[in-house]
Amino acid sequence: MTDKLIIFDTTLRDGEQSPGASMTKDEKLRIARQLERLRVDVIEAGFPASSNGDFDAVKAIAGAIKDSTVCGLSRANDRDISRAAEALKGAANGRIHTFIATSPLHMEKKLRMTPDEVFEQAKLAVRFARNLVADVEFSPEDGYRSDPDYLCRVLEAVINEGATTINVPDTVGYAIPELYGNFIKTLRERIPNSDRAIWSVHCHNDLGMAVANSLAGVKIGGARQVECTINGLGERAGNCSLEEIVMAVKTRKDYFGLEMGIDTRHIVAASRMVSQTTGFVVQPNKAVVGANAFAHASGIHQDGVLKARDTYEIMRAEDVGWSANKIVLGKLSGRNAFKQRLQDLGVTMESEADINAAFARFKELADRKSEIFDEDILALVSEGEFSH
Ligand code: KIV
Ligand code: ZN
Repeated sequence: MTDKLIIFDTTLRDGEQSPGASMTKDEKLRIARQLERLRVDVIEAGFPASSNGDFDAVKAIAGAIKDSTVCGLSRANDRDISRAAEALKGAANGRIHTFIATSPLHMEKKLRMTPDEVFEQAKLAVRFARNLVADVEFSPEDGYRSDPDYLCRVLEAVINEGATTINVPDTVGYAIPELYGNFIKTLRERIPNSDRAIWSVHCHNDLGMAVANSLAGVKIGGARQVECTINGLGERAGNCSLEEIVMAVKTRKDYFGLEMGIDTRHIVAASRMVSQTTGFVVQPNKAVVGANAFAHASGIHQDGVLKARDTYEIMRAEDVGWSANKIVLGKLSGRNAFKQRLQDLGVTMESEADINAAFARFKELADRKSEIFDEDILALVSEGEFSH
């Protein structure tokens, strides 16, 4: 049996919680279809009890998506859970994801509940959800800042009630990779029935470590589900980014040894769709999906890539949905890259002297203009012809 990593996308739920990123039902449906094309295992479509609009969106997605499990979030109470179950009725595979905070700070200040009350509520919520659907995920919110002894008690109890996935959120992005990985490992080792559930990681990016923490949760902790969003969209500094975690696990399969069902060729389209829908621009140097992720500007790099792509590329641009890598011609470019572009543009030059003269004009122009486009090259080539 292969060891599979489940990709749980929460762009439409946690991603949408990003201020200014709210989406209409139709927009959510379009993104859900793209996520299905990407072959994500689970789509968290929304929080049905939070509004009628979100209920309708989850319902529409549940009715339209066949290949991915569709999940609805709910607090740990009967009303929320019933609403989620109702919205998921038409799903080929539906999951209820119920959560309650377990950190001392959240229990005391936010919930104003004692640990014993939270313990009881978590158990009852999972029991209630399991009577409605077979696939139930439980999250102890702010799990990483919870007391490990208490957390073990809660998680053991909810597994006994039938939770099929246990997700351990680093809700505020406080974790450090090694510590988070060991946290998950310790929970799994200490909870006697831990093997009855799939363990999941859910990391926020407040310290820029959401992807690293998630990877540690997988490698050290043995988690087999990762919760993530397209472009890392999410509350505050965002969530673990899908494109980064997927490409890390795929590119370093030698290290992680895990299979995924993702069709990575749809990643760039998914990134563009989410960016256009929300208006959240993707920074040019963003890993995998940024405009410069596969662009080469320096002469040494361009020369290397033209000789063998592996010299400066650890992934193929085409594998994530770019049409090709990009040699950006500018003042740092070398003669080799320039000559290659002439060939690609169908420009034939008889002599090396002609190429050298055109290259000199190109360098002059590049000192004045930060990026040289194909039109510029064609113009400077014809300039040379007229000056003969
Ligand atoms: O960050 C978090 O704790 C969450 C939970 C609701 C899973 O998003
Ligand atoms: Zn979250």
